[in-house]
Amino acid sequence: EKGGYDHFMLKEIHEQPKAISDTLTGRISEDGTKVVFDELNFPEGFAKDIDRIHILACGTSWHAGMVGKYAIEKLTRIPVDCEIASEYRYRDPIVSKNTLLIAITQSGETADTLAALRQAKEQGTRVLAITNVVGSSAAREADDVIFTWAGPEISVASTKAYTTQLTALYLFAGWLAQERGAAGAAEVPAMLTALRDMPAHAETVLETAPAIQAFAKDWSSREHAFFIGRGLDYEVSLEGSLKLKEISYMHAEAYPAGELKHGTLALIVEDIPVIALVTQDDLYEKTISNIQEVKARDAFVLALAWSGDTEIGKTVDQVIHIPKVSAFLAPILAVIPLQLLAYYASVARGNDVDNPRNLAKSVTVE
Ligand code: M6R
Repeated sequence: EKGGYDHFMLKEIHEQPKAISDTLTGRISEDGTKVVFDELNFPEGFAKDIDRIHILACGTSWHAGMVGKYAIEKLTRIPVDCEIASEYRYRDPIVSKNTLLIAITQSGETADTLAALRQAKEQGTRVLAITNVVGSSAAREADDVIFTWAGPEISVASTKAYTTQLTALYLFAGWLAQERGAAGAAEVPAMLTALRDMPAHAETVLETAPAIQAFAKDWSSREHAFFIGRGLDYEVSLEGSLKLKEISYMHAEAYPAGELKHGTLALIVEDIPVIALVTQDDLYEKTISNIQEVKARDAFVLALAWSGDTEIGKTVDQVIHIPKVSAFLAPILAVIPLQLLAYYASVARGNDVDNPRNLAKSVTVE
């Protein structure tokens, strides 16, 4: 049942190229230029009327939502908030009939996300669920549903759910931009071409596994690690850090690279592992100077950078290269080495990878 892999998590990491491809299937027009979402039944004019979007989720799905916020804002210029469902449900969010609420939940059964979804519906807010489980509570209760076609995710640590949620969110951002005739719609055909290449690129990223395994082994006796990045690299860092904590039980923190000097730099000491994500071209120089700040304190820096980046090796101790795509779509590929890192660190520490302590796959209680 694990298809020859030692753990479900590793199997699911390797299923990502197919899961991304399945999530794209049927959602791109034949000429490759338009997003097709036959499943969306927005009332007449609603796509144009939306003036605010709230994204709600927990854990990994929340991290996907952070990338979704960036994508939707970039392509549609609609303001988007992305919040943790257990926070959102206990405050008094500002919504109107032109608000769209997007609930992201792999299982479709997370109690806090469902509570937030129900609360929004009671207030008359239209709810779109992005979920992986057909027939789940979220799928049944939302006004609209976009399914991620990741297939069953067994391991508690979420992997292919995240990359398919990202795929669905990029598609939705593109669809909404096209429906509204937003300026960002002009970028959608190129994004769709790039998304169709993503499964093949993800296969290439999976080839980094041996290098990551070696690094994880060397380094698995440490107790602390930092993940740093700027822009979308920071959002992916959040996911890398959660994954490492969840299954390796190492303490990890994700930090926006520019924020380190406001306190956290005090924790950067000799040999502490810092994983630096460097895929955001516009922020390249800024990130490099933040890496220099941690190198000046003798941290050990593993960078995740584009293939073809020959400069980065001069600043850091080790580099993992991933195929070059647009910075906008980088999260889909950048997360994969971080999933592998958490996986191999967990294995090296002798943990029960698929069933980490204190955690359940689906959190159906508050
Ligand atoms: O099923 P959901 O997407 O609603 O689950 C949300 C979180 O519980 C989940 O993503 C959790 O953070 C994962 N175990 C992380 O790997």
